[in-house]
Amino acid sequence: MTDQKIVLSGMRPTGKLHLGNFHGALKNWVSLQDKYNCFFFVADLHSLTTAYEQTENLAANSEAMLIDWLTAGLDPKKCTIFIQSDVPEVSELNTLLGMITPLGWLLRNPTYKEQLQELFKQKYAGQLDEKSLGEKLASIAGDEEISCFGFLGYPVLMATDILIQQASFVPVGQDQTAHLEIARDLMRRFEQIYGEQVFTEPRPLYTNVARVPGIDGRKMSKSYNNAISLGEDLDSVRKKVMTMFTDPNKKKANDPANPDGCVVYAFHKIYNPNCAKRCEECKAGALGCVACKKELFALMEPELTAFAARRKEFEQDKAQLAQIVSEGKEKARANAAATLTKVKKVMRVIK
Ligand code: TRP
Repeated sequence: MTDQKIVLSGMRPTGKLHLGNFHGALKNWVSLQDKYNCFFFVADLHSLTTAYEQTENLAANSEAMLIDWLTAGLDPKKCTIFIQSDVPEVSELNTLLGMITPLGWLLRNPTYKEQLQELFKQKYAGQLDEKSLGEKLASIAGDEEISCFGFLGYPVLMATDILIQQASFVPVGQDQTAHLEIARDLMRRFEQIYGEQVFTEPRPLYTNVARVPGIDGRKMSKSYNNAISLGEDLDSVRKKVMTMFTDPNKKKANDPANPDGCVVYAFHKIYNPNCAKRCEECKAGALGCVACKKELFALMEPELTAFAARRKEFEQDKAQLAQIVSEGKEKARANAAATLTKVKKVMRVIK
């Protein structure tokens, strides 16, 4: 660790992760653990803000995701790994911060509005025509299933996660910018009201992460059935690579083609140090897609093999996993409790 500053980030437990999650976030976390005092957590309470009815897989999804974090190289000797709900101090500070959060901040949050509409469309998919959907959308805030207090309060809980651990940096995607802004605003508002600052100012840490498309060219997502998972067995990955979407105008092996939009090329950009040369070869029609795919798979194979072996190790040693999570919990709780005590004193909840 070269910098004592705290870096914190979380992910909602979606179960097994895919290469999109790995290249888009996790790989960055793995490199951050060598530079900062990192805290990474499973945001299980956050998943309840939308999926509060489907809780049967919550614990299993958290475990599967933790195994993937370790598979990808997060090392409990270098960083603190914990589960959000293991730190009850988070729920307590969430209540206190909720008291000083203006409703307008939450209602105006663009992510809230977008997500609300998205959930609404999913709920009524295929049931309503465009017009009645539009009419219903107008009364969206009154929808009892979707529009819950916890869902509106998502950014308060996220601000709590960040502020309670005194994080200086928060590695997140651009889509989380509005949420992080609320955390910064809450930090300032706390000082304005109580005259004392107890929180560290959190800043977003944007990194240039690679975007890997799904094998069909759309965003990689489990629900699109176009994902390659982190611990996927090699035969299955080979098959998927061979069916990756390529330039549809390239009919014969030696036709010149356009690599932009080709999934194989998007992957070469990540796995092939000579991808610039590959780009030229593709444009010149010097190489067929089958050969190009085979080469890609060969480039991916060593890492995938290492992942599969590590994944197996952690899957078979649940005691080790329990130990990691329990140590993480202790560290995260101690850090959180120190902040919470300060907050309660400043708010005069305790003496
Ligand atoms: N909102 C994040 C996501 O959906 C998850 C998250 C919850 C988070 N709390 C956080 C990320 C605190 C960073 C810091 O991806």
